[in-house]
Amino acid sequence: MKKLTFILLSVVLAAMYLNTAVNAEEKDDNGGVLSLRGNTELSDKSKAEEMKNVQRDQEPISRDYLHQPPLIPHQTRNYRINTNSNKCLSCHSWKNYKRSGATKISLTHFEARDGQQLSDVSPRRYFCTQCHVTQADAKPLVKNEFKPVEELSNQD
Ligand code: HEC
Ligand code: HEC
Repeated sequence: MKKLTFILLSVVLAAMYLNTAVNAEEKDDNGGVLSLRGNTELSDKSKAEEMKNVQRDQEPISRDYLHQPPLIPHQTRNYRINTNSNKCLSCHSWKNYKRSGATKISLTHFEARDGQQLSDVSPRRYFCTQCHVTQADAKPLVKNEFKPVEELSNQD
């Protein structure tokens, strides 16, 4: 009887060990989940995307919904934004927009978090490219059936 218990116990322990070993291996497997970074193991680095060609300078692009940050219709390569300078404001600030022919930043860009109106661009609107982005001829990453608000279209 003792012998039988011993054998049974060994079998159970071996099974438990095998089970954890298999689980440990599975940790490295993404389980076939297809994410935007492709079918890449979680522990691997995915391949960097090739740089996209930003579209040439063009007319302002129609907005798709009311509070959309307008898309940037021009190149922005080497336009630096840091504590010392903001290249975007050299054209888009209220001081400079007339000279450069650019749209001036709207009133919302002067509003601080608590609704206080500042006399210069608000820190939360300082890093322009956080919200405004350039355009490239890129395939959408996910299927999307969004339809722009017709009333806002200023094209064709
Ligand atoms: C050399 C001047 C210049 C610089 C620098 C510049 N822009 Fe512009 N930007 C323009 C001009 C000119 C337009 C087009 C205005 C027009 O045709 O009505 C424009 C258009 C835009 C628009 C579209 C506005 C709209 O109503 O659709 C956005 C958004 C924009 N720029 C953001 C930026 C951002 C963000 C940066 C910095 C990364 C930047 N710009 C740097 C000159 C500049
Ligand atoms: C937190 C997001 C955010 C940041 C950061 C931001 N913007 Fe905007 N911007 C918007 C939104 C949203 C709109 C459209 C609604 C509005 O005017 O607030 C807009 C509108 C604009 C417009 C069009 C204004 C008009 O009268 O049609 C310009 C030009 C612009 N932004 C330039 C800039 C520049 C330059 C910076 C950096 C100094 C900047 N934005 C930073 C969100 C942002």
